[in-house]
Amino acid sequence: MNCLGLLAVVAVGQLMITTRSHRIPVPPGPYRLPIIGNILSVPKHAVWKTYAEWAQMENSTSLLILHITHNKFFGQLSVVINTKKALKELYEGRSSVYADRPQFMTHKLMGWDFATPLMPYSDEWRIQRKIFHQTLHSRASPVHHPVQLEKAGLLMKSLYDEPHEFARHMRRYAASIALLIAYGYEIEPNDDHLIRVSEEALFILSHPLTAGELPVNAIPALRHLPQWFPGAGFKIRAKRCMELVTEKQNTPWEYVKHNMAKGTARHSVASSQLELNELRAGGMQGENNIKHALAVFFAGKPNLLRAAHRVLALVLHLVVQQRARLELDNVVGRGRLPTFEDRPLLPYVTAVCRETLRWQVALPLSLAHSPTRDGVYAGMFIPKGDVLVMWALSINSVQYPDPESFKPERFLTAEGILNKNEVQIASGLGRRNCVGMHMANATIWIMMASLLANFEISKVKHEHGNEIPVEIAYTDSIVRFIMYTTHSGIHG
Ligand code: HEM
Repeated sequence: MNCLGLLAVVAVGQLMITTRSHRIPVPPGPYRLPIIGNILSVPKHAVWKTYAEWAQMENSTSLLILHITHNKFFGQLSVVINTKKALKELYEGRSSVYADRPQFMTHKLMGWDFATPLMPYSDEWRIQRKIFHQTLHSRASPVHHPVQLEKAGLLMKSLYDEPHEFARHMRRYAASIALLIAYGYEIEPNDDHLIRVSEEALFILSHPLTAGELPVNAIPALRHLPQWFPGAGFKIRAKRCMELVTEKQNTPWEYVKHNMAKGTARHSVASSQLELNELRAGGMQGENNIKHALAVFFAGKPNLLRAAHRVLALVLHLVVQQRARLELDNVVGRGRLPTFEDRPLLPYVTAVCRETLRWQVALPLSLAHSPTRDGVYAGMFIPKGDVLVMWALSINSVQYPDPESFKPERFLTAEGILNKNEVQIASGLGRRNCVGMHMANATIWIMMASLLANFEISKVKHEHGNEIPVEIAYTDSIVRFIMYTTHSGIHG
């Protein structure tokens, strides 16, 4: 398609929205040019920061940004929700309309279309969601505490033995919990292959798409172009991703099936769901649903990445470490590791965990929702369809004054008791909210409490005694990955 063709399609798209709105104003946003909208105002990097700044300027419940995103070839409408009130009213109050996800051909080509977070609001999604809910809802979650406790203990030992390998140990910690709970699968001590496969698959999925990928989302037939065709090079990346996703799903799945056949399988979500499937004669379709849901279990990678974030936050905030350690000394003492029973008595440690979920959020725009009906909210028209509805609330300076600062006290009352803000913004609201949050919170909490009780985290020093500065950099992808340019030391 040439440029004129593209512009014509964008113009028609805009005209259709204007006509459908019956002159109800669309949400405000930066100045829009004819045809291209405000694409030129949207930065290439850290868009969520710009959205948060615009939100402040507009002082509105939501704002509209019409631009051509990396995902679609044609004009893409994005409504960014700026207040928790608006988020609640739309995602909870109108949950049946806002429970769909936009669909992209690239997800299918990469082999990720089976994944619960990306699926359309459908019967298949309901089945997968039920599998998660049965094993991860708030009352079921404590069943997994023994695994989390055991792995936190092992993490402490690994950090003591090899403090400079902390990034690797953190990733192994979160992956080993997910694999053990999901499949009863123990990672070999020195084998990180499966973790690498899973991380690369997620990295490709969430990394900004290249220009070559844009047309195939608008014109799916372009997926049939041969790889060598100019502009079709993205197929190589998609193929690589498909291979990784397949391996990531099949390796632990075959392990469970093999062990179940031998009668040696450890209890896991996979084994209990497979038994249930047999009882209700769910057949191959039932097995596939379980297999797909579990693959997402292991891809709960924001969890892994956050684990590393947490450590980085502590390196930069020694006062926070000292206050948390004091609380731990008073409650736990020095003779043992913290347990989940200590949790109610450690509000400051919990506040540190909440603040680390908010600060440097790994999914700054959450996952996009797509309304299934035209609607009007606060006097503004929000059209159905390919609209991405996102939010960037964790850095909203009205809700979180001085949002760039790391302040666990945000989550405490003046009396030092935890307030009611459980950082829901990190896990979403409504029918598509995060199903893994209870498990993630427990995994993070026990790691954080154990770490603070046992170690001091500080910057590494040059041989002459000067501290080496910590630099934290992130990718600009949907899920933010840390690029380790940091040097820090952990001292027991
Ligand atoms: C700190 C760690 C985590 C964070 C911050 C996080 C955050 C999120 C967010 C923001 C969403 C989208 C919510 C929405 O669309 O409104 C989501 C969805 C989801 N998360 Fe998590 N998540 C975490 C860990 C996990 C873990 C460990 C699992 C699995 C065991 C998991 C499974 C899912 C699934 C399946 C969905 C899709 C729900 C749906 O579309 O129906 N997450 N998560």
